[in-house]
Amino acid sequence: MKALIPAAGLGTRFLPATKAVPKEMLMVVDRPAIQYVVEEGLASGADEVVLINSRSKKVIEEHFAPNPALVEELRARGKAAYADEVERVGNLPVSYVYQGEALGLGHAVLQAAGKTGDEPFFVLLGDVLVPDNAMLPAMKAVSDAHGGASVIAVIPVPDEEVSRFGIIDGAEVSEGVWKVSGLVEKPALEDAPTHLAVFGRYLLSPRVMELLADVRPGVGGEIQLTDALEAVLAGEEMYALVVDPADGFDTGTVESWLATNNELCRRAGIC
Ligand code: G1P
Repeated sequence: MKALIPAAGLGTRFLPATKAVPKEMLMVVDRPAIQYVVEEGLASGADEVVLINSRSKKVIEEHFAPNPALVEELRARGKAAYADEVERVGNLPVSYVYQGEALGLGHAVLQAAGKTGDEPFFVLLGDVLVPDNAMLPAMKAVSDAHGGASVIAVIPVPDEEVSRFGIIDGAEVSEGVWKVSGLVEKPALEDAPTHLAVFGRYLLSPRVMELLADVRPGVGGEIQLTDALEAVLAGEEMYALVVDPADGFDTGTVESWLATNNELCRRAGIC
């Protein structure tokens, strides 16, 4: 099973910091933000992470590539702990596909179709970090309890945030687990069926990948993953797991990135 991580964005909100350094490589405490997301994907039991990258962000690939010269140098200097960590990161099972144009999240995910085959797959959006790595296993348990159905993580959001997210419709079938009957991407408040927002962690059936190939541009002129999820409901069940927003640490804006650095630094006992 693969874990897909879209990483081809321009990082516009972080300019000029992201002019030469991809946003994914900005540091959160002691490592690039993307490393948390890759490690979360692997902690879920996925055998490989597929990063959906842009050709201009090769430095992300360098981060996850082996660097034997650096490891050797660190060992020669007696810095074994750093050498071990550099070696470990360079050996994580990460592969790459490319999104040539920014045509939307659904389009990004579709670029990995050749990797996922006929297996279910995870999608992790990197703007929110989940450092305890517990969310994907919880979603997998819900999927297993419902015959391998797709499961998406959702959080309750207030009125003023509804139009920033994908929003689900459905009914609660057990505590914190909803059977999804519809999804709508970034609805106006009056059109939102619930206040449960798609959080950015998905466990999806291979049918979603098939349907993505036929999704036409939707909200914002982009090919939306949410529209493929809505389409899959015609033939398959889907569930949503209500997760605790406090388990996620946002890095999507300069302010939230700084706050996440402060909080995770405090928790690590460094600051
Ligand atoms: C994407 C999804 C949306 C989801 C959100 C979570 O939107 O399209 O359904 O609620 O991520 O962060 P984006 O934030 O990329 O506009």
